[in-house]
Amino acid sequence: MSQAFQAAKLTDRVYWVGAIDWAIRDFHGYATRRGTTYNAYLVLADKVTLVDTVKAPFMGEMMARIASVVEPAKIDYIISNHSEMDHSGCLPQTITAVRPEKVFASANGAKALEAHFHLGGGVTPVKDGETLGLGNLNATFVETRMLHWPDSMVTYLAEEQVLFSQDGFGQHLASTERFADEIPRDVLRHEAAKYYANILLPYSNLVTKLVAKLGQLNLPLKMIASDHGPVYRKDLGWIVDLWAGWAEQKPTAGAVVAFDTMWGSTALMARAIAEGLAAGGAAVKVMPLQACHRSDVVTELLEAGALLVGSPTINNQMFPTVADLLCYVEGLKPRNKLGAAFGSYGWSGEAVARIQESLDRMKIERAAEGLKIHYVPDDAALAQCRTLGETVGQALARRAGGP
Ligand code: FEO
Repeated sequence: MSQAFQAAKLTDRVYWVGAIDWAIRDFHGYATRRGTTYNAYLVLADKVTLVDTVKAPFMGEMMARIASVVEPAKIDYIISNHSEMDHSGCLPQTITAVRPEKVFASANGAKALEAHFHLGGGVTPVKDGETLGLGNLNATFVETRMLHWPDSMVTYLAEEQVLFSQDGFGQHLASTERFADEIPRDVLRHEAAKYYANILLPYSNLVTKLVAKLGQLNLPLKMIASDHGPVYRKDLGWIVDLWAGWAEQKPTAGAVVAFDTMWGSTALMARAIAEGLAAGGAAVKVMPLQACHRSDVVTELLEAGALLVGSPTINNQMFPTVADLLCYVEGLKPRNKLGAAFGSYGWSGEAVARIQESLDRMKIERAAEGLKIHYVPDDAALAQCRTLGETVGQALARRAGGP
């Protein structure tokens, strides 16, 4: 087995044995420009335990890292906190390779693993709050259903005070550094926000409950070890508080203007609207969809109070890029946002109404009526655009507690 890949020591009895995916740029529709890691953890208890595995093509890297610490065949238990294939993809092959005494997952996890891999049973379901003795150490399971799959759970290793939080508090960030305190805070914050916005946003109510539950449990905690990105060993409250804040989705004075354009008219409208938004007191992010990925728009929207969407009409429809964005945002169910629709049209001009329907389905409050401009906006039309922006900007500032 290659000695190029070594485990990273986290505590005396916990090692990171995951894999670094420097190349991935699309994670089910999410642009992962900094790559990612698939984190697996080895617990050197009396019962040697592997917590999660990695995406299938990276099994060799994981096994090599395990072998740098212990002979893989000595693994007694595997705990699967989450069945999604970035963490379970090589589980069947790992079971074949190491022949563990037992594999544990939540009840939903056991079903999901069976539905994925058709193992013919063999996964032992564990209950919320159950503690598994590893001999000299103890692992307690806390179910986190729908954060973000029905099977999800986290595992707390009491003696080491480590929380294996699966996707929780994670981020897509490939790096040779294993600890969050070794990475610039602005990079961490951006990637953590992007992860939250694109994966967790629809489940924000559950995030709020989970953070409260962890607070009530008051577990002594030295480390949060997620399944993606770096491990937190200092200032753990920083990432927990960020998640708690994002889950609240409090209105801010930020506005996102996302649009596409055919011959430049809707782009011109967007620019005039942005001027108005700024004049009204908003912090504006203008995001042309020819240059901005849907997952980046959603990242900006996480901490914005308004979403303004523009599209020309093409064949009685909005532009496909705008439809793509709205389909994605609808699924993520943002709350507490204001909105408006706009666009240039030639003859029938349905796009603005269709955007508005989407915003309505999302319960995004109409801060201004949709604005349709025939062909190319003249000075009067651009003034209307600016006024629309000002109206939304002022409403945002009021909601955010401004003047
Ligand atoms: Fe990282 Fe939901 O899998």
